[in-house]
Amino acid sequence: MVSISFNSEDYHDLNTFFASLGLIWFVALWTIWLLGTWAARNRYRLRPRSPLSSATRTAVPGVSILRPLKGLDTNLYENLESTFIQEYPNFEILLCVAEEDDQALPLVRELIAKYPSVNAKVLIGQENVGVNPKVNNLMGGYRSAANDILWVLDSNVTVHSGTLARAVDALQAPTKSGKRVALVHHVPFAFSTESRVGSRIDEAFLNTNHAKMYLAINTVAIESCVVGKSNLYRRSDLERVNGSLKPITSTEPNAKQDGLCGLPAFGRFLAEDNMIASALWHELGLRHDLSCDVARNVVGNMSLRDYVQRRIRWIRFKSEPFLETRWSGEGVNTEF
Ligand SMILES: *[C@@H]1O[C@H](CO)[C@@H](O)[C@H](O)[C@H]1NC(C)=O
Ligand SMILES: *[C@@H]1O[C@H](CO)[C@@H](O)[C@H](O)[C@H]1NC(C)=O
Ligand SMILES: *[C@@H]1O[C@H](CO)[C@@H](O)[C@H](O)[C@H]1NC(C)=O
Repeated sequence: MVSISFNSEDYHDLNTFFASLGLIWFVALWTIWLLGTWAARNRYRLRPRSPLSSATRTAVPGVSILRPLKGLDTNLYENLESTFIQEYPNFEILLCVAEEDDQALPLVRELIAKYPSVNAKVLIGQENVGVNPKVNNLMGGYRSAANDILWVLDSNVTVHSGTLARAVDALQAPTKSGKRVALVHHVPFAFSTESRVGSRIDEAFLNTNHAKMYLAINTVAIESCVVGKSNLYRRSDLERVNGSLKPITSTEPNAKQDGLCGLPAFGRFLAEDNMIASALWHELGLRHDLSCDVARNVVGNMSLRDYVQRRIRWIRFKSEPFLETRWSGEGVNTEF
């Protein structure tokens, strides 16, 4: 016969154990909250105009803005227009669509006609380098980009007109650790034009819990944590990495990895943005920075059910980054 009995001492230990666990959890959450809030206030309180905004064309590095497009997203016109009106003297815009009959095209042509002085090109077609349709779509733009600095912006994203200049500043700024900044990203900040409950909840989630975690993790900066809404990096850096996340062993200044490198090497990943950021971090030993701008993300028309399904896909994707597609058939804009 087995008899199980707890004496009061066991209960006491158990209580202490759970109480400690609860306390640790509580302190951890509050620490993240405080850190996120502090980082948000510090970083976004002031948004000074960058001197690059009013520099001459030859005094600043050129930037190629890549916009992968597919279909009509909520707010697409305003999202795209925000790139045409960037206060930066030297950039081109490459608008990439896969198909000739894409619904985004008429709108894109309208914008090009509206801003004749902006150097903007439409690139139609895709190059199949892997399973990721966003990468396949971007290949044309990647190959024909005239500048080394690339800024890849999802079609759901609207940015302030000073964003590019401040991002280039951040890319060129020296860091405390002495490790060069290889990638500048922007925290997604949602706004919803819909009053449906799913859209509102998504907006609330992205702007509170998600933003706080994102800022806290990037403040501690012990690991790469990037979503691909708005990322600025150099093609010359990307051309050196192959997505293996193994540090380059050679000590030569511009040593590159073996095998396929550059954007085509990331077509095999469904979460290419995450992988590109991690590759720059781990393979080249470089760092990321957030500038003081946000990627304003227009939340689509969502019911409560749509919202729940979206979060489920998102959680699955986070736990299986190599398997889950982020291209969920809703347009280029994918979940993060
Ligand atoms: C990437 O490069 C590393 C070392 O240079 C090599 O070991 C690895 O096999 C390469 N990976 C791919 C996928 O090409
Ligand atoms: C981006 O836009 C698409 C199409 O409107 C939408 O389905 C998707 O949920 C949006 N993504 C985000 C993160 O808002
Ligand atoms: C959002 O969805 C609802 C229900 O499907 C619809 O009645 C409404 O017109 C939609 N709003 C927009 C702007 O598409």
